Amino acid sequence: MERSILLTFVHPVYHKSRANRALLDAVQTLDRLTVNDLYETYPDFMIDVQREQELLVSHDVLVFQHPFFWYSAPAHLKEWLDLVLTHGWAYGHEGKALVGKKWLSAVTVGGGAASYVSNGKDSFSVPELLRPFQATAHLCGCPWQDPFIVYGCHTITDTGLVEAAESFRARLIALRDAPVAPEQNLTNV
Ligand SMILES: Cc1cc2nc3c(=O)[nH]c(=O)nc-3n(C[C@H](O)[C@H](O)[C@H](O)COP(=O)(O)O)c2cc1C
Repeated sequence: MERSILLTFVHPVYHKSRANRALLDAVQTLDRLTVNDLYETYPDFMIDVQREQELLVSHDVLVFQHPFFWYSAPAHLKEWLDLVLTHGWAYGHEGKALVGKKWLSAVTVGGGAASYVSNGKDSFSVPELLRPFQATAHLCGCPWQDPFIVYGCHTITDTGLVEAAESFRARLIALRDAPVAPEQNLTNV
């Protein structure tokens, strides 16, 4: 039994990206991984809900990769959540489409880790600030994974970025290849 990964990529100005580009470059050739770039596919925000739902159903691990914008994500991801995760499909009594699919948020953060503490400049930790995504995953029955976070993206060195990208690749491979419990019902089996 093999897992597949859907990586939903959300960056409004990819041609200016350094951190997310490095992370994406490191993983996009992985087997059994599909990249779905929201800003590229829907530059006008006209999301094809059926296509998105079919993509979600046909993969086992859901990765959402984006820069941290205003302690959250770029606007396209919010629009995507609002339209794609519908009642009776993703949540609610009949909404079981995503149950059991692991959810990993992978974020690049401009500020350093030292400011994301209770007495620091940003007041809260990044995992705390990602709680709306965690609650969404929980509501949809998706096991929440410890977020993958790259801090200090304004100043990170090329070497630091290479290390972060390698660690992201290792994280995705581990999620994809982790042994599947016999009772676990994967999408592709
Ligand atoms: C509109 C906007 C909002 C941002 N908000 C935050 C923020 O809340 N916290 C933070 O640490 N960095 C913030 N940043 C910095 C980005 O997170 C950072 O530039 C990005 O992660 C770097 O990734 P990239 O090289 O792929 O663009 C923001 C940047 C922009 C453009």
